[in-house]
Amino acid sequence: MTFESKIKTIEWVDGYSRMVDQTVIPYEYKFINVTSGDDMYNAIKTMIVRGAPAIGIAGAHGVVLYAQALEHSSSVEEFKAKLIEKAQYMKTSRPTAVNLMWACEKQIEIIKNSNSDIKGIIEELTENAIKLENEDIEINKKIGEYGSEVVPKGATILTHCNAGALATVGYGTALGVVRSAYAKDNTIQVFADETRPRQQGARITTFELTMDKIPVTLITDGMCSYFMKKGMIDMVVVGADRIAANGDTANKIGTYTVAIAAKYHNIPFYIAAPLSTIDTSIKTGAEIPIEERSHEEVTHINGKRICAEGVNIINPGFDVTPNELIAGIITEKGILRPNYNQSIAEAFNN
Ligand code: MRU
Repeated sequence: MTFESKIKTIEWVDGYSRMVDQTVIPYEYKFINVTSGDDMYNAIKTMIVRGAPAIGIAGAHGVVLYAQALEHSSSVEEFKAKLIEKAQYMKTSRPTAVNLMWACEKQIEIIKNSNSDIKGIIEELTENAIKLENEDIEINKKIGEYGSEVVPKGATILTHCNAGALATVGYGTALGVVRSAYAKDNTIQVFADETRPRQQGARITTFELTMDKIPVTLITDGMCSYFMKKGMIDMVVVGADRIAANGDTANKIGTYTVAIAAKYHNIPFYIAAPLSTIDTSIKTGAEIPIEERSHEEVTHINGKRICAEGVNIINPGFDVTPNELIAGIITEKGILRPNYNQSIAEAFNN
């Protein structure tokens, strides 16, 4: 059984991309239309759209938008060469979430292999973007179903950042597990970490769970071990931006701290992510590029400075949780368990 969530974060409609503007949640829930490749690049970079699977789909849409702008190229060869350059550029809009590179690569394969004329290639790219979009929801429902099997009755699930419907096309990965578990047992509840500096937990996770009437309690990032020690957390489920071949997992900054606290308190710590988040080209998490974000995210909240002027700032957007802290990686092919080198390789070969 799955839980139906009404949220559709990003969608291809009539020649352009329509997405929820995540910079204004929870004050406003509004959609914006993105009609050019450069505007899509900026939407990803400025986090109007965010969350690894959602920015993957945004990248795929962005390549279609660039293709539309190149429609009047003088030859198919020129069109293909220029479009591949644009697709490579789209990949650089954010560095850590590998779904972006994965989805742009899927579009590049089509550009390279198509025997169609320019119009035909644009149609193929559009169809592929819509296919990836639809598949994302189906994959999340499978992740939710597998994940719900390891949620204890009446569990309190801690999550960090937002790996929900608003981080994907719909339904969510970590929050997909919550939705599927809630459909079977409406006594479960969520504790959501605030997730400084951009507060995706406070702003987005509480927003979407409240919208779906799933009980959620907001805590600040430093509180997780306090509640773990009190026996108030039964499991942790978070999303991922990139998983190495050995299971090391990059996710929003602060995830590693939660994983260490969970290990200390013997609480299972799960990652929920599609296979498209696994980067088998890298052996360990040490190879994952970590986004360094603007200092203002740390020095300011809602445009107001919260610290002394001139203070030194460092603001990595993600951290890497080592595989030994991870009880399982919940994917559309089932829950992968240690040894991750082996279980990940098997998941790709089946
Ligand atoms: O910087 P963000 O908001 O894009 O970071 C999002 C996360 O870290 C999510 O947990 C991750 O992308 C998984 S989303 C299903």
